[in-house]
Amino acid sequence: MKIVTIIGARPQIIKAAGLSRAIRTHYADRIKEVIVHTGQHYDENMSQVFIDELGIPKPDYNLHVGSASHGVQTARMIEGIEQILLDEKPDYIVLYGDTNSTLAGAVAASKIHVPIVHIEAGLRSFNKSMPEEINRIVCDHCSTLLFSPTQTGFDNLVKEGFKSNNQRPYTIDNPKVFHCGDIMFDNSLFFSQIADQKVDVLKRLGLNDKPFILSTLHRNNNTDDKMRLTSIVEAIMEVAQTIAVVLPMHPRTRKMTELLMEKDLLDRLFHHDNIQIIEPVSFLEMIQLEKHAKLVMTDSGGVQKESYFFRKPCVILRPETEWVEIVKTGAATLVDADKDGIISACRQYLQHPPVDFPEIFGDGHAAEFMLEQMIQNNCD
Ligand code: UD1
Ligand code: UDP
Repeated sequence: MKIVTIIGARPQIIKAAGLSRAIRTHYADRIKEVIVHTGQHYDENMSQVFIDELGIPKPDYNLHVGSASHGVQTARMIEGIEQILLDEKPDYIVLYGDTNSTLAGAVAASKIHVPIVHIEAGLRSFNKSMPEEINRIVCDHCSTLLFSPTQTGFDNLVKEGFKSNNQRPYTIDNPKVFHCGDIMFDNSLFFSQIADQKVDVLKRLGLNDKPFILSTLHRNNNTDDKMRLTSIVEAIMEVAQTIAVVLPMHPRTRKMTELLMEKDLLDRLFHHDNIQIIEPVSFLEMIQLEKHAKLVMTDSGGVQKESYFFRKPCVILRPETEWVEIVKTGAATLVDADKDGIISACRQYLQHPPVDFPEIFGDGHAAEFMLEQMIQNNCD
């Protein structure tokens, strides 16, 4: 069986490590994987660092699309992916998550009848102003095998008309939805065991014996809106009066803080004694930070979940989340960009950390399950 895997943005590169590892370990004789990097993310610390560190095979193709408007970026990807699919003639295309690289893969493949496997299917924010919401809906509705990491994702698909009892052979018109656990949980379990042996970001940042909050911020509605950005930054600065904050900064956020924020606030943020704004870190470094932080403050989808995997409370800088289960447990809370809400949620969690983290993301073997399903369907 031959699959073409599309990667492009940072979280997809990390997710792809899980499937590639399972192929190498258990299915090397049965599955050939061709990896296509769209080039959506291209800085060393947003792309290559993960390929090197997580043992992902060197991509067979790189489309080098780079940054551009949604239309231009997606169109360039569609053109490149279509040609590769025509040349490679795979049995499946594997798409991760909800980025423009996902959307491009879905459009290119469905038009030339290459079956789509969507990993991280069914997630919804019910907020169509998010580019990701459009991308994931389109991808789900062009897919043949849909793997949802959560029960809520599975239920969302059923509500949208997917039947839960379709029988093989599965096709785009007879798709199959599965609730199978989260490939990022597989990855976090696997890499957590080696993170502390291979990296020492805590030492580098002087955090070995120091309590700290880990924060990330990159969602376009936060970074591209001066009021929201300012409110979040002011909240971080207030919280940093009592506890250190580490913020590996996404390139989009660096660009937008420089463009939008008042110079005085920008100076105070970047020169704050108790805030370390650093370049994006590697995945192993991120895991080490997540494991040792007292609390996580983020608008990232992946980081919300990882804070849960590592049993840390999470203050979510968004009005809604696709990962509703973690909010329901009480281990995460939605505060949006509200300054007072952020400050009080941090104080509350620091004083009373949650203790209950039920297992809601599977058993750490989602990748093997997905590969089995692909093989079985391909044999029919
Ligand atoms: C993208 C995804 C988002 C995902 C995020 C993960 C879409 C619509 N958005 O958002 O769902 O959560 O990736 O990080 O696909 N840039 C660089 N260097 C890079 C990459 C980006 O400087 O290597 C800067 C450029 O100024 C670019 C901006 O970041 O314009 C935004 O990049 P883009 O890939 O368009 O979207 P993200 O915000 O990264
Ligand atoms: N991540 C990382 N280094 C960083 C920030 C994030 O390795 O400096 C990892 C993080 O651990 C998670 C993934 O990137 O696995 C999340 O990606 P991101 O926040 O960019 O996107 P999202 O998950 O919101 O789509």
